[in-house]
Amino acid sequence: MKKKVLLYKRIPEQPLQRLKNLFEVSFFDGINESNKSAFLDALAEAEGLIGASTNMSSDILGQAPRLKAASTISVGTDQYDLPYLSSRNIPLMHTANVLNDTTADTIFALIMCTARRAVELANMVKEGRWNRSIDETLFGIDVHGKTLGIIGMGRIGYALAKRAHLGFDMPIQYCNRNQREDAERDFNASYVDMESLLKTSDFICVLTPLTEETKGLVGENEFAMMKNSAIFINASRGKVIDEAALINALSQGVIRAAGLDVFEIEPLPADSPLRNLDNAVLFPHIGSATTETRLKMVNCAIDNLVHALDGDISKNCANKKQLNTTKQ
Ligand code: DGY
Repeated sequence: MKKKVLLYKRIPEQPLQRLKNLFEVSFFDGINESNKSAFLDALAEAEGLIGASTNMSSDILGQAPRLKAASTISVGTDQYDLPYLSSRNIPLMHTANVLNDTTADTIFALIMCTARRAVELANMVKEGRWNRSIDETLFGIDVHGKTLGIIGMGRIGYALAKRAHLGFDMPIQYCNRNQREDAERDFNASYVDMESLLKTSDFICVLTPLTEETKGLVGENEFAMMKNSAIFINASRGKVIDEAALINALSQGVIRAAGLDVFEIEPLPADSPLRNLDNAVLFPHIGSATTETRLKMVNCAIDNLVHALDGDISKNCANKKQLNTTKQ
């Protein structure tokens, strides 16, 4: 008999068929008022969960008594109450590795767009406001040769450092829980403390996961330490920074510009002051959003679920160290 799996995000037809061949699938496109009761009925039966972009609190997960494994179609695990899952010895699988290069590409797009004012100037052309040749009031700044500071040198940080150092001759400095010998060897990256990174980088990119320790990691004090010419990039999670402090820093000229792919509240509320700032480039959380990579992520999440339900959490398990299991 096939195991029961609840899919809570729309996925392309081909992986959907694959999932249906493997499991008995109940599908819901997120949770809302109209489907909540049917969702909870399916959850009560589910042995596996797979999806993304929905908050899986302990209240919701508590209504899944038969749950054996959860698989998020993302590298970030912050949608799940991980301590709660661990307390029930349930693995949370995630799509580590498959999106590193695509996300690093997106971050580089934010770096280029902010430095060269690409969105602001492209809009000027489209809106018929290009009336004279561009002068210094609209000039951007160079990216090549500038110092890039990376806060959180994980897999995506490494892919970003590669682009920046090999492609744009950028000196790289980073802070991280552990020193990364590979980044130091391959890209001559320097391991520095956060204060010196903030004070001396031209571009500062946050790439830490959202945890209790990283919530609000960059706030008023940190923005105040940055150069007035600094460009700040966030492609991790909105809550890793204090968004109000960033808005203040951008509007008061404490820093030059910011490129953001993530926000405290997503989608960005209509009244967010960020929308009125020319020096803020805003992307709608598209770090990994290419056809190729999203397909790889879905297939990776399906593989992860198959393995986890089979008791194999050797690869891509976010809470492996917290679990008590013999077959790892
Ligand atoms: C991820 O994989 O965590 C991306 O941010 C998409 O949510």
